[in-house]
Amino acid sequence: MNSFSITVNNHIVSYTDNSKYGAPVIIFIHGFPFNKSMWNLQVESLLDYYRVITYDIRGFGNSDTGNEDFTIELFVKDLVSLMDALKIDKTFLCGLSMGGYIALNAIENYAGRFNALILSDTHCIADTPEAKEKRMKTIENIRKYGVEKYADESIKLFFAPDSIAERVEEIASVREMIVKTSEKSLCNTLRALSLRKETCSKLKDINVPVLIMVGKEDKITPPAAAQLMHEKINDSSLKIIERAGHLSNLENPEEFNDQLKKFVASVDVIRI
Ligand code: MLT
Repeated sequence: MNSFSITVNNHIVSYTDNSKYGAPVIIFIHGFPFNKSMWNLQVESLLDYYRVITYDIRGFGNSDTGNEDFTIELFVKDLVSLMDALKIDKTFLCGLSMGGYIALNAIENYAGRFNALILSDTHCIADTPEAKEKRMKTIENIRKYGVEKYADESIKLFFAPDSIAERVEEIASVREMIVKTSEKSLCNTLRALSLRKETCSKLKDINVPVLIMVGKEDKITPPAAAQLMHEKINDSSLKIIERAGHLSNLENPEEFNDQLKKFVASVDVIRI
């Protein structure tokens, strides 16, 4: 993996850029509270044909936090600033969960910069008052009991029961991503997530092809939420990933990559 760092929008971003010269670009945005390494298997499966970029959102992995309050809007500005710095005019954009919130906000505000979207295990709704309250409780618990305990508890929600039993390596790597994240970044991002705006009312305006994928056993952003987005986005297809929970790209990478590659190739032929 070719790793680099660059200063954009007043912070240092760590990213990987595996280039096939002149090929279409695909940028991957990770979920919360993970980092760019969650996309390693997708990068490997695409890098012979595409320019594949993954990056750490500020405060995660090896990107620094900068000085501003975290918001989804700031994360979108970071993404577009990174594209500008890397001279990427247009790209495919694939986001999982929080990465999907960023992708949906990005297409709303910078529609001309994206060829197509891949929305994985995400949804378009804002937090309900109960969800906001739960986030505040999580912040309190992280401060009281620490990041390790938070990691152990959240892992049970992220993975499908079968994955918990079978995907030992993936669980260890996700746990490491969580415990590597600072308490400050976890709490600031939880706050940003609780304040995010809904994007459901904007889905009808998306005029690029969209692939929506969701783990059949996703408890956080369930298939019904994916179905709702599918109904609202004109040119969208929905794939339910078997044997997967919220981290469908890690729990069933074979199926995820297969759908991803087919989709990207179909858009590639028509538009690029
Ligand atoms: C994620 O995976 O990014 C989170 O589950 C998103 C969220 O907590 O809303």
